[in-house]
Amino acid sequence: MSRILFSGGTVVTADGSYLADVLVEDDQVRAIGANLGGGDAEVVDASGKLVMPGFIDGHTHMAMPFGGTVSADDWASGTAAAVAGGTTTIVDFSLQDVDGNLSGAIDAWTQKAEGKALIDYGFHVAITNLTQEIKAEIPNLPERGVSSIKIFMAYKGTPLYTEDDDLFEAMQIARDAGVLVMVHAENGDVISKLQEQALARGDTAPRFHALTRPPEVEAEATNRAIQLAEIAGAPLLVVHVSCAAALEEVHRAHELGQNVYAETCPQYFAFSYEDLAREGFEGAKYVCSPPLRREWNREALWRGLQIGDLQIFGSDHCAFNYEGQKELGRDDFTLIPNGLPGAEERAMTLWKLGVSEGHLSENQFVSVLSTNQAKIHGMYPRKGALIPGADADIVLWDPELEITATVENRHGNVDYTPYEGMTFTGGPASVYVRGNLVYRDGEVVGEHGSGRFIERSFEAPLMEARM
Ligand code: URP
Ligand code: ZN
Ligand code: ZN
Repeated sequence: MSRILFSGGTVVTADGSYLADVLVEDDQVRAIGANLGGGDAEVVDASGKLVMPGFIDGHTHMAMPFGGTVSADDWASGTAAAVAGGTTTIVDFSLQDVDGNLSGAIDAWTQKAEGKALIDYGFHVAITNLTQEIKAEIPNLPERGVSSIKIFMAYKGTPLYTEDDDLFEAMQIARDAGVLVMVHAENGDVISKLQEQALARGDTAPRFHALTRPPEVEAEATNRAIQLAEIAGAPLLVVHVSCAAALEEVHRAHELGQNVYAETCPQYFAFSYEDLAREGFEGAKYVCSPPLRREWNREALWRGLQIGDLQIFGSDHCAFNYEGQKELGRDDFTLIPNGLPGAEERAMTLWKLGVSEGHLSENQFVSVLSTNQAKIHGMYPRKGALIPGADADIVLWDPELEITATVENRHGNVDYTPYEGMTFTGGPASVYVRGNLVYRDGEVVGEHGSGRFIERSFEAPLMEARM
């Protein structure tokens, strides 16, 4: 039996912070307490560090076909980036093949992950073709350990786009099957019309990506999804909430007692419309959907995280190279593949802009990066908790660690980073997955293929009271 004693650190959980040792036996946490005697255990000096449950990223897109190309990080480089940011589990979107089924998507993603993943993982299924047959397959997902589907109200003109009647019926089926419906909430019809009009005017530059997706298209679709979920009696997760207007819809649903979960992402705090409007074609590096917003939206997003309207902080890591991928849209912003890398920077961004600037406590930091992620994505308390019996997924967080992001020191496989030159104070010194050291002092030291598939089951967790 292997034993590790993390000694002298401050344990930080969603509920509180306290000085304690943490004893790990094999792949699980065995005990937490003051002055634990570890016997023959390997002792890891955690003094000056914060000992946190491994972070969970419920929103990544590794090696995913999208926008006429495939996202640049595969399961080797993508999980390297994630663990370098303190993440020990991801839930990635397995994309249904237009001619395939949901089970086929899980099989395809299993093949992509196996032999490459450095950290643990689960899958959502992202739906591309919601036929009656596919709807009938939704109840089979939990027996494959998959407890969530994503449906796209945006991307009209691509197979991802889904009509309301199909979305609604899928919600009804998912409700009965114990499957969580996640929505990409943007009004695809309005975006498509605005894009057509912009291109007809000759407005082809990257910033028109945002101008043809104004906050109202996100707010309208968010409200519509919430109302459809209410009629269906289904819980709902609205992913990548980017702006105050969409968040207001979530807040209203919460005031009415509706079971709506919501996620926001680092890019909406680190960047803004001004980045999309950079000189020349530089703005393409910042094209994601929903788009980057005006900075004033951030105040509302912070409040959303503080009061629990936004319960999780996912990366939406969907990386594309500038050369050969973002460049596809040089003459037409609608052809720029949507998405940014951010798995590595997710926690450091939240620490820098959230905790260090006084918007969030270190315990809220752990909630939205780990504990709430585990609850909503159906892995709690195996993941997301530092308690005896939980998986020994542990981040030793060094609040003094200073890292300046450059494309050269990133662990992903992308030819740029939108975070270039940004200095983070506070980051992971070392990261353990089920008791195995996977990352230390800037280096990935784990074994590709050591990540395990985690079966998830969704039980509509009641989240902490909202103010
Ligand atoms: O721009 C984004 N978010 N790309 C990834 C796909 C999605 O909609 O989440
Ligand atoms: Zn999306
Ligand atoms: Zn996404």
